[in-house]
Amino acid sequence: MLRSLKGIVRFKRFEKNPAQRRLNKAANIEDLRRVSKRRLPAGVFDYIDGAAEDERTLRNNVSSFSNYEFKPRVLRDVSNIDLSANILGVQTPFPLICSPTGFTRIAHHDGELAVSRSAARSGIPFALSTMATRSIEEIQTTTQPVNSAHSLSPRNWFQVYVWKDRGVLRDLLDRAKEANFEAIVITVDTAVLGRRERDVRRGFTLPPQLGIGTVLDGIRNPSWTWDFITNEPIRFANVVGKSADDGSSAISLADHVNAQFSQSLSWNDIEWFRTQWDKKIIIKGIQTVEDAKLSVKHSVDAIALSNHGGRQLDDAPAPINLVGAVTDIMGDELEVYCDGGIRRGSDIIKAIALGADACMIGRPFLYGLGAAGEIGVDWVLNFFKEGMQQTMALLGAKNLSELNLDLIERKR
Ligand SMILES: Cc1cc2nc3c(=O)[nH]c(=O)nc-3n(C[C@H](O)[C@H](O)[C@H](O)COP(=O)(O)O)c2cc1C
Repeated sequence: MLRSLKGIVRFKRFEKNPAQRRLNKAANIEDLRRVSKRRLPAGVFDYIDGAAEDERTLRNNVSSFSNYEFKPRVLRDVSNIDLSANILGVQTPFPLICSPTGFTRIAHHDGELAVSRSAARSGIPFALSTMATRSIEEIQTTTQPVNSAHSLSPRNWFQVYVWKDRGVLRDLLDRAKEANFEAIVITVDTAVLGRRERDVRRGFTLPPQLGIGTVLDGIRNPSWTWDFITNEPIRFANVVGKSADDGSSAISLADHVNAQFSQSLSWNDIEWFRTQWDKKIIIKGIQTVEDAKLSVKHSVDAIALSNHGGRQLDDAPAPINLVGAVTDIMGDELEVYCDGGIRRGSDIIKAIALGADACMIGRPFLYGLGAAGEIGVDWVLNFFKEGMQQTMALLGAKNLSELNLDLIERKR
């Protein structure tokens, strides 16, 4: 009886790794978001998931992708699909970039190390934030290929906020140069910090303070709490000892940004960066066609159409809605990235078909990190890659150069 039952029933092998078990049950980014919501303390999850004011920009970033529909072509041989793209002159396996995110260790103790390693395994660029909790040098060491058989191909970029203290800024740029970082990403949408009301309501600080609410939350989320108290303290790793606010005492993010970063940032400062940095420069946070035109005039190498994932100005335009208008007037003068609201491979295909050169993601890999650590980030990058592949096959496009306005239209 048992033998004949064995003949018809195939038992699934039990997955011993609990993080892998969680991933095995996830079908998309929203599933990972739910898992990380369950595993992280509420204040930590809200810091990652939240956005400015009524969060309309955040919702609009995501939902605007559904304003476009495909015009799929059939009976085209799609047996070999090539997702490779050229990003800043380098052949890249698929057109995706990990956006800079501050305080990443709050999701998992490896933080930016996990994200940079995962990006390097996939061969795609990773941007380390000024507000990172792992240093430029740590990123360089962990993503450095140990020998020629090593499978990591690191492409590290450094994101800069413009410190009032130019000495701090110069030091960061020198270190990024020394560590062989390929490009700097100047974020220009953060003159002051947006009002993130989930954080305001909770009195959320970085690092989180251990009040009674946090203790209760910690009991509900034992694995995060264990991770938090058994690993070295979370700091702004790039400015430890160099700035009064290095994360060694709890501060609100708004106080930090308003005290340390320059509100007088202007196009002249972009010229200043050119005198300090002779490699590639990307401006992140362009939100109008007019500023895209000015970027060409200031001869930067790329722009990221971005509203900081809806975390700054509420009712800012959705990046995907800017792609067509910006690339229309742009030609090949600089690369254009679409950053914000990307939750599926098909979203990336839409952005490329409308004219973007690549896309950037923030929250998706943070949800992966919170849900399952480094293998969660791998899962996310693979999810996007497979989603792109599948969409191209169904759309009848073999490579990125076949993605164009013939295959997409705005819904009427
Ligand atoms: C938790 C978190 C921290 C962030 N920190 C930074 C940062 O330090 N510098 C920066 O330029 N952008 C930062 N961003 C914005 C991201 O780089 C990116 O623009 C945004 O997440 C894209 O939207 P998405 O989350 O919908 O993918 C952060 C975003 C999140 C969610």
